[in-house]
Amino acid sequence: MQLERLLQSQGFGTRKECRALIRHGRCTVAGEAVEDPFAEIVAAGLEFAVDGVPWRYREKAYVLLYKPADTECSRSPRGYPGVLALLPPPLYARGMQSVGRLDVDTTGLLLLTDDGAFIHAVTSPKRKVHKIYRVTAKHPVTADMLKQLTDGVVLNDAPEPVAAIAAETIDECRFHLTISEGRYHQVKRMVAAAGNRIEALCRVAVGGLTLPETLQPGEWQWLEEADLRRLWNAAELGKA
Ligand code: URA
Repeated sequence: MQLERLLQSQGFGTRKECRALIRHGRCTVAGEAVEDPFAEIVAAGLEFAVDGVPWRYREKAYVLLYKPADTECSRSPRGYPGVLALLPPPLYARGMQSVGRLDVDTTGLLLLTDDGAFIHAVTSPKRKVHKIYRVTAKHPVTADMLKQLTDGVVLNDAPEPVAAIAAETIDECRFHLTISEGRYHQVKRMVAAAGNRIEALCRVAVGGLTLPETLQPGEWQWLEEADLRRLWNAAELGKA
């Protein structure tokens, strides 16, 4: 692939902008500036740098972000900063979007990608990919409330009662809730229907992938092959 096309595909600007960037010697491959925009480069596995920042060529980009509170998942946020502003600009430019959405005040594991098929697979209600939330409730967690959640509660946009896959106490006011759908404000509405109220909500796992303990709110990391395989398996098996 020609170097200018390669940089364009990775979000470094229009072809014209990438051509100028290359001609100014800002792109290096194996430590050497490549100043010919039309140089033919093998894209697969390519390590390169732009302005000294290292990158690897990725046909599609997949990242895991620890979403902080007071951020919006939309690409065109209205009231709060958008989560995409937490990623390097080339990732925004290549059309990344969040895989499903979390509320403004919800924190935790958020996947982002420019792979539409992946978004569809992981968010499709038919695939039933499991999502685990750590719920901090206003009132103490009771066995009765957890039973209501796993037996099913009535939500106004669902014909049948909606049941959690699992609900497990963490401590007096916190519990883990596993669900497989992604209805609007689903966890908040389920918990309200079971007679409690959410004080804080953090998503800790999606499709068997857990929020890494090493990440702080606002930080992100690339998803590796094994993570992607796990998520694809979860989507294909309609579980996990
Ligand atoms: N359920 C909610 O109520 N909010 C979220 O952000 C995610 C799931």
